[in-house]
Amino acid sequence: MERIAVYPGSFDPLTNGHIDLVERGLKIFDKVVIGVLNNKAKTPLFSVEERLEMIQNCFEGMENVEVDAFDGLVVDYARQRNASAILRGMRAVSDFENEFQMAMFNRRLNREVQTVFLMTGMRWIFTSSSGIKEVASFGGDVSGMVPPSIEKRLKEKFKTAYGGA
Ligand code: PNS
Repeated sequence: MERIAVYPGSFDPLTNGHIDLVERGLKIFDKVVIGVLNNKAKTPLFSVEERLEMIQNCFEGMENVEVDAFDGLVVDYARQRNASAILRGMRAVSDFENEFQMAMFNRRLNREVQTVFLMTGMRWIFTSSSGIKEVASFGGDVSGMVPPSIEKRLKEKFKTAYGGA
């Protein structure tokens, strides 16, 4: 039977840390489904459609990676996708509390789905979508933290936001 993991997140935007985690996940699972949360309560920088397209571009040609959007509970989505696991990345200790809480909620909601934490590579320990957005918003260099295609989209987005300045 195919072993499927759902990798849920905001991915606003996808970073090299996320890509590293998908690659690590594929060493354990046959397929990783990247689930982009369509959170109506949040105002993301990139729309869900933009994020799906940006992520799909980064994994083009990889049949064992699927990119999809979801809303509602991640455990319901995992069941819908026949996934046995929810994949999450762990960077520093600071990630632990929130991740632990989510994993426990998810276990309480569905004991059949396991949360699997993988450590990101050391290079990506300080990489976060929010940090990248902040740096990019001030015109800082984010190359090497995101794929070039995403770096370009960030530049375009902030150029538009500041009226082409
Ligand atoms: O990239 P993020 O923003 O840290 O991802 C958070 C995410 C999407 C994994 C989390 O918000 C989530 O699973 N949301 C779906 C709602 C849900 O299932 N909540 C129960 C766990 S607390």
